[in-house]
This record gives sequence, C-alpha cells and structure tokens, in this order.
Amino acid sequence: MGFENIYNHKAIIKESANARVNLIGEHTDYTGGYVMPTLLGFKNTIELSRNEEKKFVVFSEYFNEKKIFNDFIKSESNDWSDYIKGCLFVFFDEYKKIKLEHFNIYISSSIPLERGISSSSALCVSTFKALNSYFNTQINEKHIAILAKKVEHDYIGVSGGIMDQMVSSIGIHGKAFFLDCLNLKYELVNFPSNWKFCLVDSEVQRNLRSSSYNERFSELKIAEKELDVTYLGEVKLNKFNPDKISNPTVVKRARHVVTENDRVLKAKEYLLKDEIVKFGKLMIESHNSYSSDFEASTSDVDEIVKKSIECGALGARLTGGGFGGFTVSLIERNNFTNWYNKIKKHYPEEKIFEV
Ligand code: GLA
Repeated sequence: MGFENIYNHKAIIKESANARVNLIGEHTDYTGGYVMPTLLGFKNTIELSRNEEKKFVVFSEYFNEKKIFNDFIKSESNDWSDYIKGCLFVFFDEYKKIKLEHFNIYISSSIPLERGISSSSALCVSTFKALNSYFNTQINEKHIAILAKKVEHDYIGVSGGIMDQMVSSIGIHGKAFFLDCLNLKYELVNFPSNWKFCLVDSEVQRNLRSSSYNERFSELKIAEKELDVTYLGEVKLNKFNPDKISNPTVVKRARHVVTENDRVLKAKEYLLKDEIVKFGKLMIESHNSYSSDFEASTSDVDEIVKKSIECGALGARLTGGGFGGFTVSLIERNNFTNWYNKIKKHYPEEKIFEV
C-alpha cells in the first residue's frame, strides 16, 4: 500500500503526530489541573494531495478502506473517517477566508487503537499539521492542539480535556511534558539517564464513548458546582472539604482529582531532582487512587500493575482515560533486563513496549 498506489500520483504534503503516554495526572486536564505525559514512538501520518474532482477521498491503511464524501456531515455510525471530516469542518470554519479545496488523503499509523494512548488526538493533530502546511496558514502548535480538541469535543462529541492534543502537537520525544491545563503553560523536562518507562498492554479495548468516561466527567462537574469553584484544579489538598459534596461517589471522584494534582506537582519536583524511588511511589499512589476512588481500573490492569512491581518496577499505573488499555511502569535502566526477563514470563513480549 501507500499513497501512490491508491491515488496514482505522489502526495504533496506529509505530516505526522505522535501518541503519548500519561505518566501521571489522570482526569485532571478538563478540571483545570496538572498532567505530565510524554511522547511515544508510535505515530500517525497524514499524506495529502489536491483532489481535482471536488471530492474528499480518504484512505485508511489500518481499516484498508476508502471513503469518499463532499460534505462535512458526521456519520451516524461513528465512522473512522468522521475524525478527518471533523478536522476539515473545523479548519474551514475557523479560516473562512480560505477557499474550500478538496483532497486525497492517506492515513497510516503505528499507534495501537483504543488503548489510552491518544490515537485519535494524533490523527487530528497530524491532519491539522497537514492542512497548515498545505495552506501555509502558520497556525502555531498550541492552536493546532486547540483545534484538534474542538474536533473531538464539538464534532465527535467526546468529553475529553486538552492534554493529548497539547503533548501530541508540542511534546518532544524523550522529555516529560508538564502542563498546567488551566493556562496551557508547559515545561519540557529531561528524564535522568537511569530512568526507563515501559508499557504493558492489558488488551482491554477501550472506547471513550461507550465507557464511563463521560459519567466521570459529569461527576466531576457536579463536584465543582457543589464546591463552588470553576475548576477542581483550584482546590488545594488542604482546602478540600468533602462535606460540601452531597453524593459519596462524587466525593471519591473529586478526592482522586485533588490528590492527583498534588501528586503531579510532586512528581515534577522528583523528576527534576532525579528522585526515582519517590516518583515511582507516586505512580503507585496514583494508580491506587485511580482504581479505588475513581474506579476507572479493571482487574486485569490491577494485576499487571501488581506483577510489574513484583518484577522490580519502582512504580506502575494505568495510563489514559481508564477502563483498560496500557499500563506504564518505571524501571531503573540498570535493572531493566532483570524486570523484562521476569515480566515476560507473565505477559507475551508483543504486549510489552519500551517508551
Ligand atoms: C483521555 C482524554 C484526556 C484525559 C485522559 C484522562 O485520554 O482524552 O483529555 O482526560 O483521558 O486523564
């Protein structure tokens, strides 16, 4: 396959965006808090050329399928091509002065889907990068992230935050991306040379739309209302008053977010000071909070986290939106072979990925 085989000519634009793994800070982005993801090697690539027949033609290598459309109406079946339609819609809506053009688009990706590592954000970010290059619109990286979020939020209808789009658009492979989601200020922090992160796949397919993600989102919005704050991110740990929240489940959800924000701040500090053991402990605390207070884990995931630590990881946790997908472990580089040889006795090598 490849662009040329499908369209019989060469692409004129080629842009990519990487997937991410969130190291710590879950469900803190849309509540105005802190997150700390890092980019993965997995990426999504968009190639495009102009279509002279006034049609949008999109080919997905993964689905081995071609879709043709000439409007931006979302399908009723949540089709993969809706993401491209959504990007085109948002782009032409935002830049009304640009004359509408039609494209041949080719999507290729090495990102495992529905595993909590933001395949959809990488798809949208790479599409905006491609449109930006084609039209020479000079959209900055932060704005590309904002547009990509608009697609997922307003067009697709998923209640997510801005973490995935920001790191996919701005992040640098090999550096942690600390983000304050309230003002979108970020810092890129180097990892000490002895730190190594690895993913283990729980293989539970996760679909944000059908999972309880939206339910958690609503619960946190109730907490914000009852605590009388715009964002939970404003609530410091020592100022958190659970008595103001009427529903005990909502108390647990909010407690996860308030404690998690505190952990992300500490995690950044430990990263800067090369305190790997303390950072690992925070990951474990984060997982426990995500599993018991936020109830976003599964028994398979909890088992991987437990096994990874038994095999010598200093920290491990479920990453991403929750309800299955990838776990991330922190291992000392000089203990990596030892950890790897042990963990692969429990999980096949195809499920283990080095970050
Ligand atoms: C998904 C969303 C993000 C974030 C995480 C949970 O990945 O896209 O915005 O909310 O879940 O931390």
